[in-house]
Amino acid sequence: MAISASHGFFRSTVGKKYLMGLAGLIWAGFVLTHMAGNLLIFVSSDAYNMYSYALTSNKLIYVAEAGLVAALVLHVVLAINLTLQNRSSKGTRYAVKAKGEKKARFASTTMGIQGSVILAFVIYHLATFKYGTYYETNVNGVVMRDLFRLMVEVFQSPAYVVWYLVSLVLLGFHLSHGVGSVFQSFGWMNGRYQPMLRKLSVVYAIVVAAGFIAQPVYIYLVLGQG
Ligand code: HEM
Repeated sequence: MAISASHGFFRSTVGKKYLMGLAGLIWAGFVLTHMAGNLLIFVSSDAYNMYSYALTSNKLIYVAEAGLVAALVLHVVLAINLTLQNRSSKGTRYAVKAKGEKKARFASTTMGIQGSVILAFVIYHLATFKYGTYYETNVNGVVMRDLFRLMVEVFQSPAYVVWYLVSLVLLGFHLSHGVGSVFQSFGWMNGRYQPMLRKLSVVYAIVVAAGFIAQPVYIYLVLGQG
C-alpha cells in the first residue's frame, strides 16, 4: 500500500521534481567537495597528487562513481521528461496565461540550456582529466599519477581556460537556481526560512563557482610558461 502510494507520487509532476532535485543535490554535494579538494593545487603539486591518489586508490570510489552516474542520468532524464510534459500541456490547460508564467518559462528554458552546456562540459572534462594523458610522479617513494602536471599542461591554452570560465559561470547560475528550487520542492520556501534559504543557495553557488574559477586562472596566470 505504502509502496504503491510512493510509486504514484514519483510519477506525478511534483514527485518527479522532487526526485530530480534530490539527484541534483547529490551533484551539488559532489561539486562542493571536488572544488574544495582541488584547492590543494594552491598548496603544492605533491599535496594535490597525494590527495587524488588517496581518493582513486580507495575501492569505495567505484560506489561513489556509480552513484554519481545514476544521479546524473536520473536528473537529465527527468529534466527532459518534465520539459516535454510542460510543453505539451501548454495552451491546453490555461486559456489565460497565468501571471509569472513567462518568468517561470524563462527560468526553465535557461536551466535547460545551462544544463546542456554543463553536461557537455562534464563529458569533455572526464575525457581530458580522468581518461587523459597518464603522467607519473614519485612522492615520498610512492609512484602515482601526476594529475597536477596534466592540469598545468591543459590550462596553458587560453581557449581551454575561457571554456572553463564560461561553463563554471553557467554552473554557478544553475546551482543557485537549482538548489533554491529543491528547497521549494521540499516545501521549505513558504515559511520564515525562505529569505535565509534563498541567500544560502546563492552563497553556496558563488563559493563553488569562484573556487573552481580560481584554479584555471591561477594556473594560467601564475604557473603559465607563456
Ligand atoms: C576548475 C575546475 C575543475 C578542475 C580543475 C577539475 C579537475 C579535475 C581532475 C584533475 C579530475 C581527475 C581526478 C582523478 O581522476 O583522480 C577531475 C575529475 C572529475 N571532475 Fe573535475 N574539475 C573541475 C570542475 C569540475 C566540475 C564543475 C564538475 C562537474 C560539474 C567536475 C566533475 C568531475 C567528475 C565527475 C570527475 C570524475 C571523478 C571520478 O570519477 O573519480 N569537475 N576533475
